[in-house]
Amino acid sequence: CRYDIDAVAECDSSNSRLLERAAAGAPSGTVLVAERQTAGRGRRGRSWISAPADSLTFSLLWRFPHQSDAPAALSLAVGLALVRGLEALGARGIGLKWPNDLLIGDSKLAGILVELQAGELRSAVIGIGLNLRRPNGLSEDVAAAGLDQALAALPTREVVLAALLAALAQTLDAYGSSGFASLRNEWQARHAWQGLPVRVSGGEAAEGLCLGVGDDGALNLDTPQGLRRILAGDVSLRAV
Ligand code: BTN
Repeated sequence: CRYDIDAVAECDSSNSRLLERAAAGAPSGTVLVAERQTAGRGRRGRSWISAPADSLTFSLLWRFPHQSDAPAALSLAVGLALVRGLEALGARGIGLKWPNDLLIGDSKLAGILVELQAGELRSAVIGIGLNLRRPNGLSEDVAAAGLDQALAALPTREVVLAALLAALAQTLDAYGSSGFASLRNEWQARHAWQGLPVRVSGGEAAEGLCLGVGDDGALNLDTPQGLRRILAGDVSLRAV
């Protein structure tokens, strides 16, 4: 895969700008790195605020050669790709929270926003916000972690980006040809909350034990009402 990387000092949202370029025919592998976003967007209509000096913020346009797997599972594949990329740099102890947050302990290291061009899975804009150092009091109401907590020494932003792009190319190729089923076991091995009691809100509402993910990317929950497949929502740990 060939990447075409463009870096800007500031934009509203790298996802918004790249969606525009995608509509204008930009090729697969187009990357937009934003040093600062004035209107960064998170999942489920939330805003995404990051400290420019301490974060890596970029979006990637990926076009699949043929209609591939369930869109819900694409964001899980991206999460796995990021963990693979960071592990290649020597990072350890990074877990995945369904559908696609990266965690250190229970604190958020990175967020992913996948948006489909024209609602079709053929073309996806994949936005990534990664904390290089732990921010204080930023973004959502969840505690934040920094990549420096998982590595002996923090590499440059360029080295981190290169590692992530290499892992994304490999993982998205596998996803495009074999679907999420080929990545599911590896995702689940890094599932931070496997077997733990959680609450789902936002999309669907449920409580139960996390049994893991299905081949379609759904979260399987063991609830008092029986087995449930969750397709959308926010998951939080439930104290027992
Ligand atoms: C989330 O956890 O809610 C997803 C956060 C995604 C943030 C990234 S930063 C780069 C890209 N541009 C955006 O406006 N959002 C994504």
